[in-house]
Amino acid sequence: MAQQPLVSSNLPSRTARDPGAVPTIRLDGIHKTYDVGEIQVHALRGVSMEIYAGEFIAVMGASGSGKSTLMNILGCLDKPSRGHYYLDGRDVSGLTKDELAKIRSQKIGFVFQQFNLLSRTSALENVELPTIYAGVPIEERARLASEALNRVGLADRAGHFPSQLSGGQQQRVAIARALVNNPSLLLADEPTGNLDSRTSVEIMDILQNLNKQHGLTVVIVTHEPDIAQYAQRALEFRDGKMKKDVQIQNRSIASEILPTLPTLDEDDVDAVAGSVPIADARSSD
Ligand SMILES: Nc1ncnc2c1ncn2[C@@H]1O[C@H](COP(=O)(O)OP(=O)(O)O)[C@@H](O)[C@H]1O
Ligand SMILES: [Mg+2]
Repeated sequence: MAQQPLVSSNLPSRTARDPGAVPTIRLDGIHKTYDVGEIQVHALRGVSMEIYAGEFIAVMGASGSGKSTLMNILGCLDKPSRGHYYLDGRDVSGLTKDELAKIRSQKIGFVFQQFNLLSRTSALENVELPTIYAGVPIEERARLASEALNRVGLADRAGHFPSQLSGGQQQRVAIARALVNNPSLLLADEPTGNLDSRTSVEIMDILQNLNKQHGLTVVIVTHEPDIAQYAQRALEFRDGKMKKDVQIQNRSIASEILPTLPTLDEDDVDAVAGSVPIADARSSD
């Protein structure tokens, strides 16, 4: 029998949902153990949850609580040691690496704290990369990548290299890259962790739009309560277990908050872009 999520019985009824709808994500008793030499690290200790299409979820918890391990499993980048992961109703826990990679390229976009862009590659080419793995014909790739850049408001930066872009712009390129294969699930592990507060709200604005206008299911990791406030539902992790599952009250709407925040002027943006150390900018390739 499926294990009951810890506190789901306390939840108010959520958004209208077809009775019997298949969750986008269902975890049933997920464990993840890393072998480090002689020692076993229990990163996840029996996690069960359901996430439905169109939800916007914030995963919270202290450093080391298992958030990234969870995201890597949700994103089919890693496999659980025990338990089952049903993605759109299909048990993917036992699939091979190649099978997982295929599912990933069809259904999932992933965004990282460090952006993970290739440094000697233009924004457009960075965004095109996943289309190559997905087998999109060569003549289609640039068009799809341009459309994705357009969705994050960066069409005019297509030819720029990461080092010529601010941190916020780099993260938008990374979001475009995550969107280019038209996934139904967007996962972002601390997407605002390296960004100043206004830029963080700009990123949340993009994610809220994608969730609202395009029905994308969004799961982000953050340890900042004011960022979690942009989600609809928060899951809190401690020591590899999910300790809380709550609906967000008084959700923040980024498009309403942005006009109240001071903007950086162009000089500041250039200073930010220019300050990216070469070593950092190249660390991803
Ligand atoms: N690849 C790995 N090898 C060994 N231990 C790991 C690995 N990844 C994570 N861990 C350990 O698993 C636990 C959870 O880590 P992680 O999921 O990264 O937490 P969080 O993202 O919440 O900071 C930590 O104790 C961490 O040191
Ligand atoms: Mg982490």
